[in-house]
Amino acid sequence: MTDANRKEVAPADGKLGVLLVGLGAVATTFIAGVENVRRGDATPVGSLGEMATIRLGKRTESRSPLVKDFVPLASLDNMVFGAWDPIPDNAYESAKVAGVLEARHLDPIKDFLSGIKPIPAVFDRKYVKRLEGKNVKKGKTKRDLGEQLREDIRNFKQQNGCDRLVMVWCASTEIFLKQGPQHETLAAFEQAMDENDDAIAPSMIYAWASLMEGVPFANGAPNLTVDIPVMLELAEQKSVPISGKDFKTGQTLLKTVIAPMLKARMLGLEGWYSTNILGNRDGEVLDDPESFKTKEESKLGVLDHILQPAMYPELYGNIYHKVRINYYPPRRDNKEGWDNIDFFGWLGYPMQIKIDFLCRDSILAAPIVLDLALFMDLAHRAGMVGIQEWLSFYFKSPMAAPGLDPEHDLFIQQTKFKNTLRWMMGEDQITHLGVEYYEYEKV
Ligand SMILES: NC(=O)c1ccc[n+]([C@@H]2O[C@H](COP(=O)([O-])OP(=O)(O)OC[C@H]3O[C@@H](n4cnc5c(N)ncnc54)[C@H](O)[C@@H]3O)[C@@H](O)[C@H]2O)c1
Repeated sequence: MTDANRKEVAPADGKLGVLLVGLGAVATTFIAGVENVRRGDATPVGSLGEMATIRLGKRTESRSPLVKDFVPLASLDNMVFGAWDPIPDNAYESAKVAGVLEARHLDPIKDFLSGIKPIPAVFDRKYVKRLEGKNVKKGKTKRDLGEQLREDIRNFKQQNGCDRLVMVWCASTEIFLKQGPQHETLAAFEQAMDENDDAIAPSMIYAWASLMEGVPFANGAPNLTVDIPVMLELAEQKSVPISGKDFKTGQTLLKTVIAPMLKARMLGLEGWYSTNILGNRDGEVLDDPESFKTKEESKLGVLDHILQPAMYPELYGNIYHKVRINYYPPRRDNKEGWDNIDFFGWLGYPMQIKIDFLCRDSILAAPIVLDLALFMDLAHRAGMVGIQEWLSFYFKSPMAAPGLDPEHDLFIQQTKFKNTLRWMMGEDQITHLGVEYYEYEKV
């Protein structure tokens, strides 16, 4: 991104339709939260789009507007929601099943939530083994199914009078798939759709439909989905932004803060053991080894990318990294995650850090869905196309241009995020150099 390809950001006038794939715990916590905030009954804690400020210019200038006053973001009042799900429960019923939000946040908006009914999904148990649902589309080929999704998108836009749309994958984690020749080009992908090839997962059909309709697509799960060459090709062809993957909420959020600290101080790492107990539907789906494998891959990459063992073999050349997720129904959405970190200092003396993180999965994920909807829409209006690396901040396994290492360190991601907003609006980048505040004698 150079100044030469920076475009004037189009205003956020009119309605923004947020299309959610999956109407489960995360999606309903997000929708119900936005509605509570709109009614003045709650605060959007965790959303940078709604709550963060951004410093502009020198520290002495005291210019720190809210992000939403600095860049033109869609207003929450102009958001409308649609969703697909194989389970026919409306948003109120689904939120009750998820058990994340209390009655005080659901009952006053029962009519609003009950009005959000899931559109029949493109769903196949081959890809999510632990789920069953009857609210499912029928079609001869995967291309047919994709065309039906495209029609849903157009109908939703027209029926709700939307000016713009974004799509966010908030559905279950699919089984582990590897990139194959079917994912290389648009021609190969569409042929594979016509042939009902197993390499084409439902999530890819949604991504294809979204991009074909010129709708930005963000992937909140660790599925391959949009992380394949064909989607880059299509995103460029249609001038649409894409981002992913896997919302960074719990243990990985902590990992991407603590690992950079160890590295910044040149402290060594011998092992990192992470285990969780989780009792929601996501936990149940991840109890299937094939879905867990997808999640595991997404979680394991983090340490290697941050610690660069090839560059620091004495410190990080021999790390034992293990991640476990255990389905334990009594905890429902209130996950408990334990980390044991064996690290070493001066002359190799061993030390340990223990973390017991009692978090609420969907409470941490909901503001990420909101921010992705806001910032993917912003990126689209700013003419930004393809992978949105500046949104790495929100993902466990951030996408990056082919051949480029992804950035995992939370604070580098935050700097990248804010500098991109400054760049978009033609403001100076902040380098944190700071020599301008001190007087040096000229020699
Ligand atoms: N909550 C978090 O902290 C967090 C963090 C990172 C990633 N995620 C991911 O976000 C996703 C949603 O999590 P959740 O807790 O809401 O799970 P959930 O099980 O409550 O909801 C997922 C919903 O997706 C639906 N679904 C499955 N396949 C579908 C398809 N093909 N089309 C449409 N809908 C489909 C399911 O029926 C279900 O209602 C999961 O993949 C999870 O791994 C969550």
